[in-house]
Amino acid sequence: MNRRTFERFRELVYEKSGISLGDQKEALVSARVGKRMRALDIADFDAYFDYVVRDESGQELVELIDAISTNVTSFYREAQHFELLTSLLTKWKESGQRRFRIWSAASSTGEEPYTIAITVAECLSESGMDVKILATDISTRVLAKCQLGVYDAQKVENVPATLRDRYFDRIQENRQTLYCAKDRLKRLLMFRRLNLATPPFPMRGPLDVVFCRNVMIYFDNQVRSRLLEEIYRLLKPGGYLMVGHAESLTGLVSAFKTVRPSVYIK
Ligand SMILES: C[S@@+](CC[C@H](N)C(=O)[O-])C[C@H]1O[C@@H](n2cnc3c(N)ncnc32)[C@H](O)[C@@H]1O
Repeated sequence: MNRRTFERFRELVYEKSGISLGDQKEALVSARVGKRMRALDIADFDAYFDYVVRDESGQELVELIDAISTNVTSFYREAQHFELLTSLLTKWKESGQRRFRIWSAASSTGEEPYTIAITVAECLSESGMDVKILATDISTRVLAKCQLGVYDAQKVENVPATLRDRYFDRIQENRQTLYCAKDRLKRLLMFRRLNLATPPFPMRGPLDVVFCRNVMIYFDNQVRSRLLEEIYRLLKPGGYLMVGHAESLTGLVSAFKTVRPSVYIK
């Protein structure tokens, strides 16, 4: 891919997703876009660029963003956040709260929102609780995986065996063991496509906890600040924001108070 073509892709991806591609990403973009072009039998990068912008359905743009961003995730990733979630839910429940709203803002293939759902199901099993976990991502491909809620044995390795057996059905398919999330988890979850780079967002607050982890690393400070302002607006006073352990709000203009690294409170 030549420099000018890389710039065209870079601008398009930034405009549509807020993802900033640094100069060092040229080889990665070239390799990932090249793979997609082979699948479509398109030989030239500029021809593929035109194909993306001409696709009025927007589906190819989703494929492009998908090819460029990484979807790496896991159950119980950065496990302290789920320990904190357990103590917050317990505290709020004991103070009489019955309505809980949690948002997994870049849910990828679902391991994060399903871990939230397991934590919620363990803490708030009493009847009369009004609980919703919203899982969003820009990629319709990963959202389809979320909705399915089916994971191979290796993916669920981080889920403690008792919880795995309580919340997943084990099935055999083509001699492979798969784990399907049970309805009692799925009932707690809602899945929607949402672009974090384009606030304001349509959901109604107030939210109790927002997980916005390992996605702001792709954004520049302008997109990050806009996003943080919107999360702040949607959270209840005393609501929590969890970001990835490698991320920090240091240097960003935001009204959040730091609780500890990667945990913030409104
Ligand atoms: C590395 S995964 C993080 C998954 C999970 N939050 C975790 O920490 O394990 C990053 C996710 O961000 C999504 N993403 C990238 N840009 C986005 C945007 N502008 N709006 C919403 N999601 C975005 C990607 O599709 C991907 O699924």
